[in-house]
Amino acid sequence: MGHRIDIFRHTTAVINLDHLENNYRVLKSIVGDQVFFCPMVKANAYGHGDVEIALKLEQLGVQSLGLGLVEEALLLRQMGVKCDLLVFGIFDAKAVEHIIKWRLTPVISLWQQLEALEKSPFLRDGQKIPIHLKFDTGMHRLGFAVADAKKLLERLQNHSQIILQGVCTHLFKGDDAEDLHGQSFSQLAQFQEVERVFASMSAAGPIVSHALNSAGLLNFHLLRMAQKTLPHHVAPHQGVRPGLLIYGVDPMNSSSLAQALKPVMSLRSHIVRYHRLRPNETVSYGATWKAVRNSVIGVIPIGYADGYHRLLSNRAEVLVKGQRAPQVGNVCMDYIMVDVTGLMTDEEINNNIEVEVTLFGSDSQGNTLSVHELSSKAQTIPWEILTSVGERVPRTVESSHQMNATKKRDKMRREFE
Ligand SMILES: Cc1ncc(COP(=O)(O)O)c(C=O)c1O
Repeated sequence: MGHRIDIFRHTTAVINLDHLENNYRVLKSIVGDQVFFCPMVKANAYGHGDVEIALKLEQLGVQSLGLGLVEEALLLRQMGVKCDLLVFGIFDAKAVEHIIKWRLTPVISLWQQLEALEKSPFLRDGQKIPIHLKFDTGMHRLGFAVADAKKLLERLQNHSQIILQGVCTHLFKGDDAEDLHGQSFSQLAQFQEVERVFASMSAAGPIVSHALNSAGLLNFHLLRMAQKTLPHHVAPHQGVRPGLLIYGVDPMNSSSLAQALKPVMSLRSHIVRYHRLRPNETVSYGATWKAVRNSVIGVIPIGYADGYHRLLSNRAEVLVKGQRAPQVGNVCMDYIMVDVTGLMTDEEINNNIEVEVTLFGSDSQGNTLSVHELSSKAQTIPWEILTSVGERVPRTVESSHQMNATKKRDKMRREFE
C-alpha cells in the first residue's frame, strides 16, 4: 500500500462507488450478459482512481479492464486486480518481460509488437500469452489494416504460445451508431471482414470481438433493442468498452439513459476566506471582474493546477448551500473566487467559517452541476474535465458497503467497551 499523506486542504474528489455499481448495472441491462464487456480504466480510471475503481468493478463481476499503458496495468496487477488487463497502447520491446511476468493482455496494433512477443526470451516452454488484435477501420490512430487480417491469422497459426482471444476496432463517431448509413456502420462493416477471417480460428477457443465505446454502445444497443433485426453485416452482440458511461456521464448528454446514470465523481471544496467588496473593487489577476454593488466574495482553494481550467474564468458557477454562485475573476493556480453575495450569514463571513462548495457532480444534499456544463464552458469535452483533476486532489471513496463496514466496526467497538 502507498504511503498515506495527511491532507490539510479541504478540496477533494469524492468517488461514489454505489454510483459506479448503479452505472454498471444500467449498462449490463442494456447490453446483456452475452456481450464482451470491458470498462476502460485507463488514465487513472478517467481521473477517478484506478485501483479502487478496478477492484470494485472486479467485485461486481467484470472480467476484463482496459488500460492505455503497460505501466497502468502493472500497477493494477500489483495492487491485486486479477481479471484480464487489456493494454491498448503501444509499448516498446522492454515491456514484454513485464507483460509475460504479470500476465497482461496486450492489444497488438503493430507487427513490431507481435515480433517482440514472438521472440521474447522470457517466454518459457509451454507458457502462453493471450493477445487481442486491433484493426484500423477509419480512426487512423492505432491498429492493423483490415487487409492484414489473413496474414496475421497465418502468422498466429505458426506460433502456438501466442493465443488470440479477441479482435477489435475503435469507432471515431460512435454518436452516429444508430444510423444504418452512418460512419459507425461503415466501420462495423469493414470490421466484419476481420471477424470473418478469424471465425475459422474459433475452434481453438472462442474469440471475442469488440468495437463500441460509450456513444457507440448507447446508440448501437438501443437500436438493437428497438429494431430487433440489424443489417446482416453486423454482429448483434458487438462487444463494448465503455469509458465515460461507466463513470456516469452520458457522452451525448441527451439520451434517455442520462436519467439512470449517476456521476461517480463529485469535485468538492470549501470557501476558506471571505471579502466584502464595494462597487468598482476588482477580483484576481488582471482585474477581469469588477463589483457593481456591495458584494461578498468567497475564496476556494482549487485552481488550474488542480484541473479547474483557466478558461472557466468568469464563466462557471459552483454550488453553495444548494444554490448557484458565479465564479468571478481569473482562475488562479491554487484558488478561485466566487460571488456569494446574499448566500452567507454575517457569522460565516466575519469568522471565515468554512462552507462546502461543489465544483461539479453532486453536493451532500444531492443538488447537481454536470461535467457537461463545465466542459462546454471550458470549450472542451467531459473526458478532459475528468482526467484533468490533478494529482494533488485526494480521492475520497464513498460507498454504502464501506459505511456499513465502518458502522459494524463502531458497533463492535462500543460493545467491546
Ligand atoms: C480503445 C478505446 N476504447 C474505448 C474507449 C472508451 O471511450 P468512451 O470513454 O468514449 O467510452 C477509449 C477511450 O478513449 C479507447 O481509446
